[in-house]
Amino acid sequence: MSSSHVLASNSVAAGHQTSLNIEPLSDIFGAEISGVDLGQPLAEQSIADIKAAFRDHQLLLFRDQEIPRAAQVRFTGYFGQLEMPINRDYWGKDFPEIHTVSNLDADGNPKAAQALANPGNFFWHTDGSYLKVPPACSLLYAVEIPSSGGNTSFVSTYHAYETLARETQEKLDNLRLVHSWAQSRINSGSRPATEEELQKAPPIPHPLVRTHPDTGRKALYMGNHTSHIEGMDAEESRILLDELLRHATRADVVYEHKWRPRDLVMWDNRCLMHCASTEFDMENERRLLHRTVLSGTVPV
Ligand code: OGA
Ligand code: MN
Repeated sequence: MSSSHVLASNSVAAGHQTSLNIEPLSDIFGAEISGVDLGQPLAEQSIADIKAAFRDHQLLLFRDQEIPRAAQVRFTGYFGQLEMPINRDYWGKDFPEIHTVSNLDADGNPKAAQALANPGNFFWHTDGSYLKVPPACSLLYAVEIPSSGGNTSFVSTYHAYETLARETQEKLDNLRLVHSWAQSRINSGSRPATEEELQKAPPIPHPLVRTHPDTGRKALYMGNHTSHIEGMDAEESRILLDELLRHATRADVVYEHKWRPRDLVMWDNRCLMHCASTEFDMENERRLLHRTVLSGTVPV
């Protein structure tokens, strides 16, 4: 389906030539990058090439990477400021900026209840959209992956917006959608938000159609962390959001990532939504990923 191309880059710092190979993962978005070792410090040109590929493809996959926590923090830092989650359940112990996403309990054993303790990931969402300044990007590094299932699905909300009828685009262009951590917890049947979390993330309206700060392209900005469209009747708002979600997540536009251990996937929360699959043996098989998040800007 796809053609690949090679970007030669003179890695001055390392004193040798590296080359990135870029292979699209679908016709719409996503690319696999090879020819780079993310466990090592990267030369400036490699970083610039990865940034350009990220702008073009919105999701990058790097396979067969050996990435200790410190290296993941370093790699993430090439792209901006790392961010801590508002949900303390996710804070890592030695590296608080690395949150673990897993089905492992305190003793390190797989437990379905653990995977389901924070079920928000199993609904289409864009990370941290309930924040006034939501994160730009997220990175997941696969440490342990079940023998089957436990995939993560992604869609492009650039594509979702761009494939709407012109009249619909115009109707949506000036609407504001209220995002809410408390409502998100209700939507996913999670434990209620705590007082501390609510103070950090009170309900916040964002444009339903946001303009990407780096590309100027418009994207739908929605998902499970939302309550209603500002100034719209609750029922009308629900119907519209459901319709947009169906449009954005049609099976033929989904890239479903089937994880292998040592995969690193980084994605752009400003123009993608994603959702975890419940389909794996949560009670017996281990699933553990290391997650880092980059700060973003106020959506406009
Ligand atoms: C996340 C997330 C999905 C998964 O870490 O933000 O949504 O499949 N993860 O674990
Ligand atoms: Mn997520």
